[in-house]
Amino acid sequence: MADQLADIQERQLLRKRQPVERLPGGRIRVDGVEYHDLSSNDYLDLALDPRVRQAAIDDIEQNGWGAGASPLITGYSPRHAELEAAIARFESTEASILFPSGYASNLGTLSALAGPNDVLFSDARNHASLIDGCRLSKATVVIFDGRRPETLEAELSRQVGFERRFIVSDSVFSMDGDIAPLGDIVSLARRYDALTYIDEAHATGILGSNGRGAAELLGVESLIDIRMGTLSKALGSMGGFVVGDQTLIDWLVNRVRPYIFSTAFPSAAAAAALKGLEIIQAEPQRRQCISILAMNMKTSLQREGFDIHPSSTPIVPVIVGTPQCAVGLVDILRRKGFWTRPIRQPTVPAGTDRIRISLSASHSTQTVESVLAEVLHHGSARSLRGSSPKFDADHPENR
Ligand SMILES: Cc1ncc(COP(=O)(O)O)c(C=O)c1O
Repeated sequence: MADQLADIQERQLLRKRQPVERLPGGRIRVDGVEYHDLSSNDYLDLALDPRVRQAAIDDIEQNGWGAGASPLITGYSPRHAELEAAIARFESTEASILFPSGYASNLGTLSALAGPNDVLFSDARNHASLIDGCRLSKATVVIFDGRRPETLEAELSRQVGFERRFIVSDSVFSMDGDIAPLGDIVSLARRYDALTYIDEAHATGILGSNGRGAAELLGVESLIDIRMGTLSKALGSMGGFVVGDQTLIDWLVNRVRPYIFSTAFPSAAAAAALKGLEIIQAEPQRRQCISILAMNMKTSLQREGFDIHPSSTPIVPVIVGTPQCAVGLVDILRRKGFWTRPIRQPTVPAGTDRIRISLSASHSTQTVESVLAEVLHHGSARSLRGSSPKFDADHPENR
């Protein structure tokens, strides 16, 4: 272990934690110093919203904190039931099920759904929780590149003789911020008799006119078989969910191991998520504001030669090409009062090391312009420009 740690330190890939205090107005305090936080997934600034906090406090006063048991024992509270019903209404589906986290939702649901006789077509850029769910299912896993839907079609026509086929994809890719080609995915799924499983973790509350996500934005909600989301990002709470028809949800209650064998998240977290859900529906201006900030920033970066995907999601990757450049740029920004984190291999493919800026409704136009000016000044040196090689699916670290 010590040798491995020394090795990853040498390659500038060592990950370290730092205690961070969250402050109002999109700021944080680290080691006594305050920064603008450009790294959180609390996109709509709800985690510190007084209404969300009060909802949690009121619930704690009534029900205490820990849930005390898994949902099938005594951990499923009236607040969990209320939240499941509210999510199902919001998502226009028959039912929903809550999990301790988004990670557990993907891991548990995929590993329950698919088995050794099935095949899972998984986008190369899928989140680790989808990758791990696919692996745990023991199904055959086939990787495709969603940026070229023809690679999915080629695999769908090549991989035959399985019992069931599933196409699995993020709807918004967490490290790039672009949107998956959901239209192509659902039409290929129909043509090749596959089921679709889509992760809306970074899209719930952000995309679509009602904030239901990328599937709403692209008009394909009713064509997707299973959708999941998380309560831990735009909704400002914790936990994950899957939505679908009642039979699916009843089946998941009986089959998903992280549901059956893990303590439910606290009732107060469900109360906070309920309030978050209410706010995202009542205050669409939050997502409209973030979408404008993101579009403006991405357009400016693209104009200056940065390789980014021009979507209106709040995730803005600044690809610098090496772990050293990513750590260096993070350090420069930190000294200017902006907190970002380097995203390095193997989280992203070797050669596409980056900083990931995530914008939030708490950021003022002035903050965004200031950080943009710093990035353009320090991150756009000629040596860093256009330095992101194409994704290499065969590279061992990318599998
Ligand atoms: C695409 C995606 N899916 C799932 C998750 C897991 O969600 P949670 O943080 O609620 O466990 C994440 C979190 O980073 C994510 O980015």
